[in-house]
This record gives sequence, C-alpha cells and structure tokens, in this order.
Amino acid sequence: MAEMKPSIMVIFGASGDLAHIKIFPALYSLWEDGFFPDNFFIVGFARTKLNDDVFRKTIFNSLNLNCRKKPIDEDEFTNFAKHVFYLASKYDEYSSYDALGGFIGSKAKEYNMPKNVVYYLSTPPSVYIDVIDGINNAKLTSSEYKGDGFSRIVIEKPFGYDYESAKNLNGKILSVFKEEEIYRIDHYLGKETVQNILAFRFANAIFEPVWNNKFIDHIQISALESIGVGFRSGYFDKAGIIRDMMQNHMMQLLSLVAIEPPPLPDADDLRNEKVKLLKSVRPFSLNDIKKYTVRGQYDRGIIGNKQVLSYKEEEGVPPETLTETYVALKLFIDNYRWAGVPFYLRSGKRLKIHKTEIAIFFKKLPYSLFAKVGIENIKQNSIIITIQPNEGIAINFGAKTPGFKLDIEPVNMVFNYKSSFKLSPPDAYERLIYDVIVGDQTLFARYDDMLIAWQLITSIINGWSKTGAPVFPNYEAGTFGPEDAEELINSDGRIWNN
Ligand code: NDP
Ligand code: BG6
Repeated sequence: MAEMKPSIMVIFGASGDLAHIKIFPALYSLWEDGFFPDNFFIVGFARTKLNDDVFRKTIFNSLNLNCRKKPIDEDEFTNFAKHVFYLASKYDEYSSYDALGGFIGSKAKEYNMPKNVVYYLSTPPSVYIDVIDGINNAKLTSSEYKGDGFSRIVIEKPFGYDYESAKNLNGKILSVFKEEEIYRIDHYLGKETVQNILAFRFANAIFEPVWNNKFIDHIQISALESIGVGFRSGYFDKAGIIRDMMQNHMMQLLSLVAIEPPPLPDADDLRNEKVKLLKSVRPFSLNDIKKYTVRGQYDRGIIGNKQVLSYKEEEGVPPETLTETYVALKLFIDNYRWAGVPFYLRSGKRLKIHKTEIAIFFKKLPYSLFAKVGIENIKQNSIIITIQPNEGIAINFGAKTPGFKLDIEPVNMVFNYKSSFKLSPPDAYERLIYDVIVGDQTLFARYDDMLIAWQLITSIINGWSKTGAPVFPNYEAGTFGPEDAEELINSDGRIWNN
C-alpha cells in the first residue's frame, strides 16, 4: 500500500457540516488505523471565530456522534488533536491566505518537510472561486514551490450547476492547478461495493462472457432513499434530484457496470473507458425526454409509521417550487456490447425503502424444456449488486423444489460482505481522503467524464423547460414514486425490482 507522505491538509469551511460529519471522522479513523505519518497536519480555515482548542472540542464532540471508531478515547484524541489547528479567516481577503502560507511555511521549516499540501474545499460552491484566487495570489501551489512539495485540490459536489457552469469552474481551477492535482469527489466511488463492481466483472471468468446484449435483457440502477431533504433544502431546491444524484452518482454506477475492460486498473485507463462509455449514451431528443424521463415530487405520507411532510412543506422550500425529488430515466448505450439493451435508472427521496442497487436481468430462455410439462414462466435469471444497505451480491436462478413433483422455484445464491469478510466496509470518505494524500486519482472524476455527464443531464433539464413540469406533488411519501415511473418500465413488459 502506498504510504502517506508528511503533508498538510487545509480544510476550507472547516466549521461546517461535511467537515464534522464526514471529513474529520474519516481523518480520525485513518489516524487510529496508523496511516498518518508523524508529520501530518490538518488546518481548518473558516470565518467562524474559534481558536485551536475550541475547534478541537467541536471535532471531539462530532467524532463521538459520527465516527466509526466511537466512543472516542480521550487520550487517543488528545494525541490526534496535536495535529489539528484552526485559522479564523475570510475567504475573500488575501491576507488570510498569506497567514495560511505562513502556517504552511513554518510547519515545513519546523519539521524539515516539503510543502505537501492538500486543499479541501468544503464550503458552498459560491466560495470556490474566492478560495482558488486566494491560493493563487498567495503563491501556494506546487508550481510556485518549484519541486519543494505537491499541491492538490479536492472539490466537493455539486461541481457546477449545468454543463456551462461546470466547464467554467473547471477552467478556473485549471488556471491554477494541473489536472493531475484536481480531485473531484463523488463519494459513491469510494464505496467498497461500488469498487467491487469492477472486481466482480473483470476478476471472474464466468460473468464477462454473458455481460452483453446477447444475454442481458435489461439493467436497472436504483438509488432509493426514505429520507427527505432535511436541512439541505437551500441547496436541494436549486439542484433537484437530477443534479444531486443523476449527474454524478448514478452516471458513475452506469459507467462501472457498462464500461469495457480497461488495459490497466489505473486512473487514466479507467477514466478513458468511462469517457468512451458516456459518449456512447444515446442523446435524448425532445421526444425521448417526453417518453423516457419521469419527474416526481413527494406529497405527505407515512414512512416507518410516522407521518411526514410534503416536499413543499419542508423548511426552507418555497411553496410554489417545481423542483423534482424523484427521477426515472430509460436510456440506451449505442455500442456493440449494449445495443438494444435498455438501462432504467431511478432515484428519489421519501420513498418506501432505502436501497441502492444494480439489477441485471438476463434474457428468457430461447426454448424451455419444462414448458412441455406445464412449468411456465420460469423467472428470468438476475444478478443483484446491492451497494447499500446489506452490501453484497445475489445471483438468482431456478432450482427444482424438493420432492417427487417436478417444480421450479427461484432461489438466491448470496455473497454478503459482513459474513464473508467479517467486517463492515470503511466509510467512502476514508478511502477517498487516503487516495488524495497518496496521490491516486482512480476513484475521482476527470474533467471529461464529468463534463459528458453534465452534457447529457443538461440536455434533459433543458428539455424539461420546454415540456413543462408535471403537476406536483405526484407521489405520496412512503411509496415507490410516481405512477408514470411504473408505466415507464411496465409498458416494456418489465417491472422495477423493488
Ligand atoms: P455548510 O453549509 O455547512 O458550509 C460549510 C462552511 O462553509 C460553513 O460552516 C461556513 O463556515 C462556510 N461558508 C462560507 N460561505 C458560506 C455561505 N455563503 N453560506 C454558508 N456557509 C458558508 O456546507 P456543508 O459542510 O454541508 O457542505 C460543504 C460542501 O460539501 C458543499 O459544497 C456541499 O454541497 C458539499 N456536500 C455536502 C454534503 C453533506 O452531507 N453536508 C454531502 C455532499 C457534498 P464559516 O461561516 O465558518 O466560514
Ligand atoms: C449526496 C446527495 O451526494 O448523496 C444526498 O447530495 C444523498 O442528497 C446522498 O442523500 C446519498 O449518499 P449515500 O451514501 O447515503 O447513498
């Protein structure tokens, strides 16, 4: 395994939610598992007036709520906290970045280490440009260090609002950092189960020969959530589920399940294959948008015996909102492997269940021996890759039921992470932060796959502005989404794998 080099991680927006819920728990787990080198420092950069001690206390409290290592041992934490600092700063004042430069320089000098710096942008996107300008103005990039260290930048989602804004943001970042220094996070790529898609497909001789349109009837990719928008309505109402889930997580799942085997399992080869795949997704005409896309917004309903509000009634959501909280799409990949195979994608909030899965359905038998003896409708074979919860893979096939009578019933052969490996997979952020520090971009989006995904999604969003919004709300919370989404798949003689 690659070793983390002595380095400094600067977290912009360190007083915020993501820093406390995901970034610090991941850093603490990495530290506890012995991944940190001696000289590894974390510095929070945000406007809130805190000092090092108060900042460390807020981290201790949030680790006890959010870290997989909880409860946190106070002595252990005291040792960890020696690596953590805080700079009360302003994003749009150059003097704050000069102070940051002073901090980096003094640590490098004191510990005789290169200026290896990871900048983590964990602020709202509206602040990104100020931060990039500030870093540039204070000459805190590797090109200025002239070989005395690396600089890397981590960008959270949303990366832009549409194709044009993503392209502009990309251009801005590229004016200061090189592509090999830019880490665009899609936390789905850090999930063990998502990485396992490639192992499953390309490390087993039995699956690849049937992974194509000769054998596969259709593929469903579902990310269903029972939670609502919570406290993130300010962001969500501008994004909708199409930007929040489809442009990033769902497109990454689609890519991994459908790409060609890369020559090497490394960042460049893998991302080249993803680009080829996304370029082969058939563009949506206006007619396709009408036929093959469904939008939904949740109404009041019952989830887990609790009455929940409609989306329009959630705090901070404008009552006249036309933002979708559910999307289903049917798309085609125009290449040799997938010609004619429909991919059905759906994602939504406040649904009956919480699960993310990829369901691969195989074609029916060309001829059934058992039909002759009255056994009709043998279920299609399927492979269900469950990303979460109950991470694992199930292969569904027909087996003879015990007894003298000939009958065939579907059965599951199941691989489950917990029972096979006796441990739960680490949080995606642990893996991704580790990869940034060791400099591995394999699990991060590259500018071109990100932009192609935006191109597709922007064409749908633009199409929707022409076709007009449906009457919202159009599905009850606690159900599986709008009726039109059922119709989208039922009209092809198929059903969603609920
Ligand atoms: P927060 O709204 O909590 O913002 C983080 C920090 O940014 C705040 O504590 C604040 O610190 C600073 N900030 C600077 N300008 C503003 C502003 N105009 N409004 C609000 N805060 C500001 O965001 P999160 O921590 O939730 O998210 C950070 C980034 O990560 C965002 O881009 C978000 O989209 C993304 N993300 C978040 C997820 C989550 O679950 N929270 C999941 C996936 C991505 P201060 O005032 O001290 O400077
Ligand atoms: C985030 C979205 O990127 O992913 C959220 O902004 C969504 O709206 C979340 O809830 C889902 O992530 P996970 O890991 O819980 O499936």
